[in-house]
Amino acid sequence: MAEMDDLRKRPASMPPAPPRCGHYSQALAAAEVGPAAELVRILDGIDLHWTGYDAYAADTIGSLFPRRHAYTSLIAATDPDWGRDFDIGFLLIAPGTLYRDHHHLASELYAPLTGPTYWRFGTTAPWTEKMPGDIVWNPPQRVHATLVRDTPLLCLYAWTENVHATAKVDFSPDWREIEAALAQEDGVAL
Ligand SMILES: [Fe+2]
Repeated sequence: MAEMDDLRKRPASMPPAPPRCGHYSQALAAAEVGPAAELVRILDGIDLHWTGYDAYAADTIGSLFPRRHAYTSLIAATDPDWGRDFDIGFLLIAPGTLYRDHHHLASELYAPLTGPTYWRFGTTAPWTEKMPGDIVWNPPQRVHATLVRDTPLLCLYAWTENVHATAKVDFSPDWREIEAALAQEDGVAL
């Protein structure tokens, strides 16, 4: 079933690759002053394989998100069987980015290491500010979106169950307005 393709599977010995969205040094510097300073020092000293989550249809996730985010899984390369129901890693989103509303079968934990960033849990829900040390827990199928303004988002993520079921975008009519405002703030062309 196409929906259950293992989008995160990769050989066990993938070479290090920096986040394609850039802003990693900026994110580490921002996280270093937060509650996860020791974790940041460890991260700063190791080479990880960063990639992108490319399962979304381009006409739903938008043109910016694919090149303005990256993630690195700490599980997928080590044990594919275990990794079907558990994944943990880091997500990085560049400043001036809306990660549009979406949902997935996997339950999901986010622990932001930088902030502030902004989150909503429903396409018409109000935005909530999250700071380093705050926790976001998304039960399966909960609609959620993330808005990253001046500070890049670096966060720990964990997925449990159905790791390989692809996420789906949920349309919201305010995307264009939000992304236009972000473009004005940092000069990004939409
Ligand atoms: Fe998610």
